Amino acid sequence: MRKAFVAGNWKMNTDNHSGVELVKGIKDAAQANSSKVDVAVFPPFVYLQQVAKAAEAPIAVGSQDIYFEEKGAFTGEISSAMLKDVGCVYALCGHSERRHVIGETNEIVNKKVKASIDGGLLPVLCIGELIEERKAEKTFEVLTEQIKKGLAGLTAEKVSAVTLAYEPVWAIGTGLTATGEQAQEAHSFIRKLIAEIYDETIAENIRILYGGSAKPENTAELMAQKDIDGLLVGGASLKADSFSAMIAAAV
Ligand code: PGA
Repeated sequence: MRKAFVAGNWKMNTDNHSGVELVKGIKDAAQANSSKVDVAVFPPFVYLQQVAKAAEAPIAVGSQDIYFEEKGAFTGEISSAMLKDVGCVYALCGHSERRHVIGETNEIVNKKVKASIDGGLLPVLCIGELIEERKAEKTFEVLTEQIKKGLAGLTAEKVSAVTLAYEPVWAIGTGLTATGEQAQEAHSFIRKLIAEIYDETIAENIRILYGGSAKPENTAELMAQKDIDGLLVGGASLKADSFSAMIAAAV
């Protein structure tokens, strides 16, 4: 049985004070629902340490990105060891904004997934199609490529550390949510693909989150879908009230 997982991706938002307040503000909901829902927040790098200190169990903290080298002359980058050092448990890999704004390729994302696992972090591998790709009926093709390349070289044992997040790019930050049915179609496809690449047990156990304008009002519909195991939440995770409501509604 897969435990629900609700994760808040703060993106380039919050500040010194508000990030700490935000993580404190979701404590009650996280604790009240901890037997049924895992909760994590992904603050900007510079606030990770203080948010991790302020985050009481069971809230976990993750990074929005990671670099795949261990250390050295990589100006501006952050390694898995540094992330662990400040209290991270998870690392987002290949968020669509990194793919489409920063230009990360599937090959880079794959290195980041591997570096996360090798460094003792749990990667959340983000995948999802652009609106043009959906319109051209290429959604499954894009997902297949992102998954096969993103997980390339990972053994069955290592892939058990991975959470997948299906985030149709056209639904991110746009207010356009995929319907429960559209999301379920993609999630079911992804789970079958994992069964083909690995096996049924791994496919049954891997958590697949949905992301893209998830909010309190659509949480129940999304979570009611058989293959949706949780949510990766952007905008609605920036307010303690709305994120708390989503945690409570995700059980
Ligand atoms: P959104 O972002 O909830 O604001 O659409 C989701 C994400 O990008 O992870």
